[in-house]
Amino acid sequence: MSDRYAVFGNPVAHSLSPRIHALFAQQTGQELRYEAIFASLDGFELALRAFVAAGGRGANVTVPFKEQAFDLATQRTMRANAAGAVNTLMFEGGEIVGDNTDGEGLISDIKTNMNVQITRKRVLLLGAGGAARGVMLRLLYEMPASMVIANRTTERARKLAELFAEEAQGTLRNATFVQLAYGDAFDIVINATSAGLDDAELPLPSSLFAPGCLAYEMVYGKETPFMRQAKKANARVVDGLGMLIEQAAESFFVWRGVRPDTAAVLATLRA
Ligand code: ATR
Repeated sequence: MSDRYAVFGNPVAHSLSPRIHALFAQQTGQELRYEAIFASLDGFELALRAFVAAGGRGANVTVPFKEQAFDLATQRTMRANAAGAVNTLMFEGGEIVGDNTDGEGLISDIKTNMNVQITRKRVLLLGAGGAARGVMLRLLYEMPASMVIANRTTERARKLAELFAEEAQGTLRNATFVQLAYGDAFDIVINATSAGLDDAELPLPSSLFAPGCLAYEMVYGKETPFMRQAKKANARVVDGLGMLIEQAAESFFVWRGVRPDTAAVLATLRA
């Protein structure tokens, strides 16, 4: 029987992960099955343990269970600890190993698919929730010239900047949206807020997009107000589909030790 994997979420019916992993498996000749499993809001642990008992080898975890997955893990990788959340689980010898591939997914998409280097660039990260925290460490590893975290709720941005102050070695600060109007422009602006899901606009000054700026929206599957605004400001705009595929590829690599060709899958899903 082929090895079983799954993505747990709520909602999860429209998840692209089963399709992405089926394409990876086909491409690499790996024998595996990958399904979407819906868990009720208080039913994640039960559903996960049932999947493990039934012989599941690994799982992805999406909204709203990433923090619960972190708590359930009996071992965690460094990047899971930095994210405070887990999107990838491995079940091995009774252990539940928690990992997080979101940061790697974002960086791969920006560097490989968009062909944009982050090193020595001025980076703005919008948002200070789970999505923002999940990519912080990996972004800092690229050694941007500077990095600013801006969030609607100032206190959350301040806390996030504080959490990564040591890794950032003085290159990281937090700002309010209002302060952005009086500050520098950025080479890379990453929207890690969930505002786009509600079609909500962010109060951003267009002056923050430097010429040739990459505006990265983590939401995918729709054009968000952030993307429209960035386009108007002549930024290069991309949604989060590439990140979704790249984080999936990193999970696939963690489980199977094989790297799929993500460009082919990205082209298939864009078409
Ligand atoms: P996620 O796991 O997607 O990051 P989260 O932890 O709830 O979810 O964080 C959501 C992020 O989007 C936060 O940074 C939130 O800002 P606040 O901390 O001020 O709540 C941001 N966000 C959501 N809707 C927003 C909106 N309409 N305008 C500005 N920021 C928004």
